[in-house]
Amino acid sequence: MTKPDEKFHTQITTQMPDMGTGPLPVEPYISAEFFEKEREKIFRRAWLEVARTEELPNAGDYVVRQIEVLKTSVLLVRGKDGVVRGFHNVCTHRGMAVAICDKGNAQGFICNFHGWTFDLDGRLKGLPGEEYFANLDRAEYGLRPVATDTWNGFIFVHWEPEPKVGLREFLGGMATQLDDYPFARFNHIARYSARVKANWKTFIDAFHEAYHVMMVHRHTVPDACAGQENPYGLLSSARIYGPHHSGSVWVNPNHTPTPSETLAWKYGMSFAPGDMVDLPGLNPDKSANWWFDINVLFPNFFIDVGPGWYFTYNFWPVSVDESTWEMNIYQLDAETAGQKFAQEHTKVLLRDILYEDLSTLEFAQKAMGSGVLKHLPVSEMEIAVRHQLHTVQEWVNRP
Ligand code: FES
Ligand SMILES: [Fe+2]
Repeated sequence: MTKPDEKFHTQITTQMPDMGTGPLPVEPYISAEFFEKEREKIFRRAWLEVARTEELPNAGDYVVRQIEVLKTSVLLVRGKDGVVRGFHNVCTHRGMAVAICDKGNAQGFICNFHGWTFDLDGRLKGLPGEEYFANLDRAEYGLRPVATDTWNGFIFVHWEPEPKVGLREFLGGMATQLDDYPFARFNHIARYSARVKANWKTFIDAFHEAYHVMMVHRHTVPDACAGQENPYGLLSSARIYGPHHSGSVWVNPNHTPTPSETLAWKYGMSFAPGDMVDLPGLNPDKSANWWFDINVLFPNFFIDVGPGWYFTYNFWPVSVDESTWEMNIYQLDAETAGQKFAQEHTKVLLRDILYEDLSTLEFAQKAMGSGVLKHLPVSEMEIAVRHQLHTVQEWVNRP
């Protein structure tokens, strides 16, 4: 048997909270009561990422996001003054949605029920038959604002009208690590989404450890992040920033590229392991044999950054055992046909990998719901799983 000092260890470079080493309880993944606490204590108290500023380049551009866990729909709109504002997508007359398309460009919003009109900054501009309303003060009936702020092009909203902690302070060291990553230089190349019968934490947990790669991804990237030196896919380094965490995925130096991977890297950059493209914010601990970083912004947003690409995940709870998920993939500009091929390679390889990831979730959720399992033994390889639940429990137990 391997002696402990000969094992591959994750280098942890920031202060670790005391998370223990015991098995994790199943209850938080299946309890409807716990889910209600998560809604109140986590999702109504955290900054939540909802869009990127490139989605709203011009005055009047808007997007609508359904946030089921908050039981609301949020309308983000760029005003004539260039400011992106967030509103509940709710007409203040009798509650119809003021924007009924998912995105578009508008001079203002006209409610489709009785025709009340709102300006891009939310003000109630007019209402048919105003003289028949007794003492109605238009100033009181503007769209209800949602606290909105932006970091590095990512737009976040907060349920509380005046959040006690600002966005930058909330993101803390996690934002500092990525402050200089050139997000604005990337183009959106693909979006994938799914609705799955699994708790949001079951969903997230399949995406921030590499222990599963050699099994789940044996048909797509079988030898990418495990090898002789690190046989089970331990992260090479990890950082904890309060509720957020960041892990660097080890790459197997003896990885055998497929013919299409070789071709992609000949002309451009691909998600498949390949050359290092030096960008600020990557591989913060300068780990040897580095593939990419999984950055998890509590509670439900991932920014995975790599050489020449990054992708994001938003995991949204619907109920205790149902969630939605959206992945957005971004890559540096492709100018030549070869670079475009490399970009297509990233899209298609990630599509196949993500199909594999989605395959385990409903089995695991059903098993937990059956009551067969009461605890989940979690290893050092799954440190992010432990930290996520540790943080969830800490927030849920707050007054
Ligand atoms: S509900 Fe919007 S105008 Fe009546
Ligand atoms: Fe995976």
